[in-house]
Amino acid sequence: MFANSRSVTSNQTGIHSDLDRVVRRHLQSPWRAPIADHDAQAFARLQQWRQAQGAERALILDSGCGTGRSSLLLARQQPEALVVGVDQSAVRLERASKRFQLPDNLLLLRADCAGLWRLIAGEGWQLQRHQILYPNPWPKSAHLKRRWHGHPVWPTMLSLGGELEMRSNWLLYLQEVRDALAISDIHAELSQLPMQSEPLTDFEEKYQASGQVNWRLTARL
Ligand SMILES: C[S@@+](CC[C@H](N)C(=O)[O-])C[C@H]1O[C@@H](n2cnc3c(N)ncnc32)[C@H](O)[C@@H]1O
Repeated sequence: MFANSRSVTSNQTGIHSDLDRVVRRHLQSPWRAPIADHDAQAFARLQQWRQAQGAERALILDSGCGTGRSSLLLARQQPEALVVGVDQSAVRLERASKRFQLPDNLLLLRADCAGLWRLIAGEGWQLQRHQILYPNPWPKSAHLKRRWHGHPVWPTMLSLGGELEMRSNWLLYLQEVRDALAISDIHAELSQLPMQSEPLTDFEEKYQASGQVNWRLTARL
């Protein structure tokens, strides 16, 4: 089961023809949808935790952290920073808490990234680093607006700042991110991950074991 992960298949063969229009529209008009109560509660928990740990410490976000493996690695590598792993799945986060001894500088938080990013941006917080590793690809062409770069939260995500790193096993996803960043006046680097690199996440490990190529995009926001 582990080494037979299928590559992404899509009815889209190149950069989405609506990408430019969608990104520009979102850059021009801030998203005003109401914030869900559960995201407001998650943010209140984050505020309390950050205050208790030291609000002057650098803040790192691992968005869509799944089972928290990459968040734990980051927290260990950067003990002076505060690392927040965010995921909408309580099941995945619980698995992380059972599997790992979580250090004090790591908070795993259940929230919808779109709501949480808006609340963080609303307080003017700036990130040192933001990683989004193996986001749901939403490969159907009709689902462009569910991908982070086609979502109305895109300008808010950019406003959080920091070193952005995104990884995917679907090259087209990251090529679209690179184009969306260019439309937003931000330069990005896109490269193939070495096949033998130490996996940062469970999905990365699974894709590697299935012989798939993984890709990495970095940008300074
Ligand atoms: C493909 S998995 C990757 C998980 C992990 N980063 C890894 O590489 O192992 C995508 C993760 O993003 C989470 N996710 C998707 N949409 C989300 C959203 N809007 N807010 C928070 N988490 C989300 C899912 O629950 C899932 O755990």
